[in-house]
Amino acid sequence: MASSVYIHIPFCATKCYYCAFNTYTFHKEQAKAYLIALRTEMELYAPDTDPLQTIFIGGGTPSILSANTLAQLFTDIREYFQLTPNAEITVECNPGTVDSEKLRVMRDNGVNRLSFGLQAMQDDTLKQLGRIHTVAEFLQSYQLAREHCFENINIDLIFALPDQTMEAWHHTLNEVISLEPTHISAYNLVMEQETPFYEWWQAGELHLPTDDTEADMFQYTIETLTAHGYAHYEICNFAKSNHFARHNLVYWNNQPCIGLGAGACGYVNGVRYTNIRGIAPYIDALSQRNKPIADTERLTGYAEKSETLMLALRKREGISLEAYQNRFGEEIEAAFGDSLKKWTDLQLLERTSMHLRLTSRGLFLANEVFVELM
Ligand SMILES: C[S@@+](CC[C@H](N)C(=O)[O-])C[C@H]1O[C@@H](n2cnc3c(N)ncnc32)[C@H](O)[C@@H]1O
Ligand code: SF4
Repeated sequence: MASSVYIHIPFCATKCYYCAFNTYTFHKEQAKAYLIALRTEMELYAPDTDPLQTIFIGGGTPSILSANTLAQLFTDIREYFQLTPNAEITVECNPGTVDSEKLRVMRDNGVNRLSFGLQAMQDDTLKQLGRIHTVAEFLQSYQLAREHCFENINIDLIFALPDQTMEAWHHTLNEVISLEPTHISAYNLVMEQETPFYEWWQAGELHLPTDDTEADMFQYTIETLTAHGYAHYEICNFAKSNHFARHNLVYWNNQPCIGLGAGACGYVNGVRYTNIRGIAPYIDALSQRNKPIADTERLTGYAEKSETLMLALRKREGISLEAYQNRFGEEIEAAFGDSLKKWTDLQLLERTSMHLRLTSRGLFLANEVFVELM
């Protein structure tokens, strides 16, 4: 049983040049049909859920939906799922796509966390990324959210962007800090295949910062955000006053979560599944009342242990040795003894009294550690 639900809204105004998420250009009629399919999918998964602790409506651009459609989405959610009284309900919003009416609908329906994708505080960079908004439009959307009493707000940023200087990243980070959001996600740019960025990069047309500059940007991010009271609780995530992303913690703790929507992933009753990515086949499957699943994998044995370890190592506190032992009935060394010794000797992993975690140096080489634990 799961007490978390992720709902994917696979529509954006246009596609950003770096993005490989499962999103398509927004069409009103298609979105209507999609929401009807989503409702059927909720009905099919309702028996697999306990009262929900977290709901994350992500994308894509959920905030591209009209206020009426958003209201309908929340009506559907409440029809099929019970919510715990203090459930965390997050909606991803794109600057320039929110207005008073949409924010009112969200707030009236219990949304208590917003996540704004900003990425950078320079208009020319936003243009280069293919974003639809300017810095001024972001600021308007953010202030509007504040005026509508949203206190728990995340801002997404990306560093190590093409042509980005250290000064530009300092400026972005410090401007964002001055807005006092409760949460900041700072991702290094990943060159995803089948994106325009990847193509331009392969053709030698994109000039990325060196690995050293990227590491300096990450170091600066950690130092600056912690100095301003943000707890660094996951590789890319920082929170003020315990405003940790509870939904994301479900992923990092490898706990069950229902994924709904085209291309969404879920993990329930020991099975990890991925939905059909295309909108039309997704709608088709649900019109026949079939779960729109493309792939499944039963997570057992080593696969479950290694996923649990890797996901938990993303958290700054690392993996709880007691929780691991309770879940698998054995000590962590039984499955990973040799690798753990190697990375501990190399000072990329360390033991605290109750946890095993990445060292400060290990944070910069996390992917190398993870690859070997797979
Ligand atoms: C699921 S996306 C959607 C958020 C929202 N649609 C937006 O862009 O404003 C969440 C975040 O992932 C990050 N992201 C997307 N593609 C990325 C990439 N290739 N490398 C690093 N971060 C990326 C961006 O910061 C983005 O805001
Ligand atoms: S980054 Fe966000 S807005 Fe841009 S295409 Fe991806 S999901 Fe859509």
